[in-house]
Amino acid sequence: MRKSFFLTVLAGAALLAACSRPVPVAQDGTDLWLAAGRPYADVLASVEATIDPALPAEAFHIYDADGQRHVAAGSEAGLRYGIYALQRAEVLGQAGPGMDVQEQPRYELRLLNHWDNLDDTVERGYAGESMWEWTSPTVPEARIRQYGELCASVGLNGAVLNNVNSNPLILDAEHIARVAKIADILREYGIKTYLSIKWTSPIALSGLKSGDPLNPQVRQWWKDKAAEIYKAIPDFGGFLVKANSEGQAGPQDYGRTHADGANMLGEAVAPYGGIVMWRAFVYSPTSPDRANQAVEEFLPLDGQFADNVIVQIKNGPVDFQPREPFSPLFGQLKNTQMMMEFQVTQEYLGFSNHLAYLGTMWEECLQSDTYRDGPGTPVSKTISAIAGVANTGQDPNLCGYVFAQANWYAFGRLAWNPELSAAQIADEWIHQTFLKPDGMTDKAFESKFVAPVHDILMASREAVVNYEMPVGLHHLFGGTHYGPAPWDRLGRPDWTPAYYHQADSAGIGFDRTRSGSDNVDQYNEPLASQFNDLATCPENLLLWFHHVPWDYVLSTGRTAWDEICLHYDAGIRQVEAFRQTWAGLKPYVAPALWEETARKLEIQQHDGEWWRDANVGYFQRINGLPLPSDVRPLETPIDSLIFRQVRSDRLGMPIHDENNRPIIDAPRFRRP
Ligand code: GCU
Repeated sequence: MRKSFFLTVLAGAALLAACSRPVPVAQDGTDLWLAAGRPYADVLASVEATIDPALPAEAFHIYDADGQRHVAAGSEAGLRYGIYALQRAEVLGQAGPGMDVQEQPRYELRLLNHWDNLDDTVERGYAGESMWEWTSPTVPEARIRQYGELCASVGLNGAVLNNVNSNPLILDAEHIARVAKIADILREYGIKTYLSIKWTSPIALSGLKSGDPLNPQVRQWWKDKAAEIYKAIPDFGGFLVKANSEGQAGPQDYGRTHADGANMLGEAVAPYGGIVMWRAFVYSPTSPDRANQAVEEFLPLDGQFADNVIVQIKNGPVDFQPREPFSPLFGQLKNTQMMMEFQVTQEYLGFSNHLAYLGTMWEECLQSDTYRDGPGTPVSKTISAIAGVANTGQDPNLCGYVFAQANWYAFGRLAWNPELSAAQIADEWIHQTFLKPDGMTDKAFESKFVAPVHDILMASREAVVNYEMPVGLHHLFGGTHYGPAPWDRLGRPDWTPAYYHQADSAGIGFDRTRSGSDNVDQYNEPLASQFNDLATCPENLLLWFHHVPWDYVLSTGRTAWDEICLHYDAGIRQVEAFRQTWAGLKPYVAPALWEETARKLEIQQHDGEWWRDANVGYFQRINGLPLPSDVRPLETPIDSLIFRQVRSDRLGMPIHDENNRPIIDAPRFRRP
C-alpha cells in the first residue's frame, strides 16, 4: 500500500516535471529580429495613429490618452518608426499603461552600403549572392520588402545598392530602369536609394577622352546623367564615391583634388536635392604610413567641400580591423561634414562563421573622445551621418548566420541613437530574435537563456581580438582576410602583414610615435602625448603605436611576448567557454538554430587555434623564445601552416572538413 502510494507520487512528480519542461518553439532564423513581436499591421491597427506636422519629420511620440494608445509622428516614416518602436517595447515588456516615449534619430542619413556587383557576387559578402539579384530578369520583390521592413524597424533610411568598386554599367539605361524598380519598393519603407559610381564612367559609357572634373564636357556628362537618373527616380539619394583608392581612378589622376571631384558631382545632383558621399579611404603611393594617409590628404581640403558633399570615413585609420583606434580624421576636420563608415559584414572578424557582436566595437569608437572641440567631443558628435557596409545576401536568413544578424540590428540602432549602449542593444536583439520556449516562465527565460547569450555577445568581439591580433597587432591577414598570414611580405608593402607587425629578433610593433611615423600627432592633445608615451599608451593598442622589445614589461608584470601568447590562448579559451554555455542552452532553442550555432562555434574554435598556431608559431621562429608556462602548447607546427591559406569556395567562403576544421592547403603564393 505504502509502496504503491510512493510510486504514484513519483510518477506524478515525473509527469509534472515532463509537463513543465520547456519546449523550444520551432524557428529557423529567417524572421530575423522580427520573430518575437506582433505583426506590424496588428500593432498599427491597435493604436490611434496621427501625423502631426509640428513634430520633426522622422520623430514619433507614443503615449496613452483617453484610454487609448496613440502614436503621433511627423511623417509617414516617423509613424513607421513609432510603430516598430512600440512593437519592440511590447516584446521587451516596456509597453505597459502610461507609456510615454518620444524619439527622433540623431543623424539624418542612416545608410547601408551594399558591396554588390552586377554579376551578383558580393565583395566581402558572406551570405550568398547579391540580394538584389542583378542577373535575374525580375527584381526579387518579396526579399526587398523583407529587407525594407527590417531596415525600417531599426530606423535605417538609405541603401547604396552597389559596390564601391563600381561597374560603370550601373549607370546605363537598363540598370537605371532596374534600380528605379528597386527604389519604388524601398520607398514604401522610407528608404532612399543611392548608387556607387565609377569615376571613369563618362569615358567607359560615352567615350569621353577625360575624367577631369574641371573639364566642361565631363561636368556636363554628369549633369545629364543626374537628370536621367532623377527622371526615373525623383527622390534618388545621390552618389557614393571611391576615388584614387586601391587602383580606382579619381580626380588626382588629372591633377585635381578630392574636393574638385566631389564638388563637380555635388553640382550635378544639387538641383534635385541629392548628395555626394566621398570616401576618405585613400591610398597615397608615397606616404610611409597608411594610417596617416586620410589626414594627409583631407585635412588640407577642410572647408573646401560643397554643402551637399559629405566625407565618409572608416572608423579606424587602416581598414576595419578587430581593434583600431578611431580615425584621427574625425578629430581634425572642422569645416567638413563627416560620415561614419562601419563594416557590418565581418571581413576581418571571421566572416559569417564567427560569433562576433560588433556593438561593443562601434560603441568604443563612437564614444572615443577626439578632443576636437575640447574634452567631451566624442566621435559620435563630430559626424552628421552614418553608413554600414551590409552583411546581407540571398541566404534565407539574409546574413548567413543568426548571430551575424545581431550586427545589422546593432548598426541600425546605433545609427538611430549613438548613445545607446551595446549591452542594451544586445539585450533587445536577443529578446526579439529568440522565441521563449513553451512552458517556460519569463523569469526562467531571462536567467537561463537571455543572460548567458547576452554574456556571450558582450565578450565575443574581445575574444576575436585575442585569438586574431591582440595587444594592438593588426592586419595579420592572408589574402582572403579570413585566416592568418604573418609571414606574408610579398606585394605592395602596406598590403602585407609584415609591414604592420614589424617583428624582428629584437621586438615587434609599428612605431607610430614621434620617432616613428608620427601618427600620434594626428590626434589632438592629450591623446597625442598619451599614445606617444609607452607608459600611458593603452595596452590594447600598444603594438599599434609602438615597436617594443620582446622583453618589454607591461603593467601586468609580464613581457610583451608572454602577453601576446597569453592573449592568443585566452581567446581560444573564451570560445571554448561559449561552446560550453551554448551546449547547456539546447533545451531552450529551436533545433535548427541550436545546431547551426553549435557548428559555427566549433568552426570558430578551430579557426582560433589556427590563428594562434600560425602567429605564435611564426613569431617564435623570429624570436626563438619559449612559450610561457601557463599557455597550452601549439597544436600544429608552423612548418605545416606557413605560406598556406584556407581552401575557399566559388564565393570566397572558407571550406572546413567534416570535423569543422579549416582545410589549410591552398598555397598563398605560387613558388618558383
Ligand atoms: C578593404 C576591402 C576591399 C574594399 C575596400 C574599400 O580593403 O578589403 O574589398 O574594396 O576595403 O573599402 O574600398
